[in-house]
Amino acid sequence: MPVTLVSPLPPLPARTARPLDVLGVPGQVNLDHAASAPCARAAADAVAELLPWYASVHRGAGALSRRCTLEYERARQTVGDFFGARAGDHVVFTRNTTDALNLLARALPPGTTVVTFAGEHHANLLPWPRGSVRLPVPAAAGEAVRALDAALTELRRGTRADPPVLVAVTGASNVTGERWPVAELALVARRHGARIAVDAAQLAPHAPVDVAALGVDYLAASGHKLYAPFGAGVLLGRGDWLDAAPPYLAGGGATSHVGAATHEVRWATGPARHEGGTPNLLGAVALAAVCAALADADRAELHAHEQALLARLRDGLAALPHAVELRTFGPDAPRVGIVSFVVAGRDSAEVAAELAARHDIGVRDGLFCAHPLARRLLAEAAARSGRADLPPTALRASLGLGSTTDDVDRLLAALAELP
Ligand SMILES: Cc1ncc(COP(=O)(O)O)c(C=O)c1O
Repeated sequence: MPVTLVSPLPPLPARTARPLDVLGVPGQVNLDHAASAPCARAAADAVAELLPWYASVHRGAGALSRRCTLEYERARQTVGDFFGARAGDHVVFTRNTTDALNLLARALPPGTTVVTFAGEHHANLLPWPRGSVRLPVPAAAGEAVRALDAALTELRRGTRADPPVLVAVTGASNVTGERWPVAELALVARRHGARIAVDAAQLAPHAPVDVAALGVDYLAASGHKLYAPFGAGVLLGRGDWLDAAPPYLAGGGATSHVGAATHEVRWATGPARHEGGTPNLLGAVALAAVCAALADADRAELHAHEQALLARLRDGLAALPHAVELRTFGPDAPRVGIVSFVVAGRDSAEVAAELAARHDIGVRDGLFCAHPLARRLLAEAAARSGRADLPPTALRASLGLGSTTDDVDRLLAALAELP
């Protein structure tokens, strides 16, 4: 009788609460968290612990490989729990939010209409099929809800078959930091029999995002914006469309059977279907470590700290005679720690370069991969301020874990000193 030999695998180390501080370089003021956040020590420690065991995932019988497989699947569970995954949801590891939304776009049932707003990041504008509906940027959160209701009413008018509709919205704008009324939009979507995806790239680093509580069907997020480097992201959501879709990446790992004939292939179901190729183990583990650390943290306290810094930054900018803030909604709309602004009469790229060279301050400049929105807000800022000398691109300062009052004050002082 054949004997199955399984070498004993030491149990996975218990998850210990990891600290939420972030790494950085003394003296450098990083106010560019919205582009890529600094690495959390939780992520660095989790990766350092795993590195000696580093081996293949889902592919080996050796103890190293088996531990890596377990760590990868445990990371999936942790990330799913963090975002409130429900029974029937898949948690698919991707490279980032862009990758996650492109995967979702490829998994749409034929004939799906996608409805977005023009204020989205390119990652949530460009993947969607031709015929998608792009609603104008609303002037207030309530207007967004009413506009979606009207658009879905119109889309459903006269159709008996109820073809699939997906609404795709951001949780927080990468340009203004303003939060979008995701739960309200989800209610409207559901009332019209549509599904809804939230682009949580900018919201997740700043606030808890729970798909079940929000009533959203899909969520996309990036590890590198959530204090976890190594290029992992996630698409989480309803498994039915994902299991029915062609694999996003055809290849090893995405199949359950491959025969001799070219057409003889059975694709896996579940996350594996869309994770062809060797997965990014370290990215997944780093992301899960941050999710676990954030889940253990006092998010209300983190929020209060960030909001205090944000208020200081916005008040300071408002007090500078040449700075004009960009915004979509009213000045008091809820927002995360992101502010875009212009310095009248000054080129934004030059200002960013000067902040870096003379003050060791890192901010972003440009149109932030949200060209339609940024251009519109620049025009609106010119009209609101009555200034004809605003530059054609903007600056963005973004805060997060590790940001301090001193960071904000140094930026404000440097801006005040601009010649
Ligand atoms: C709101 C939003 N969505 C999507 C993305 C794309 O993220 P990634 O570059 O990690 O794919 C970004 C990146 O800045 C973003 O801010």
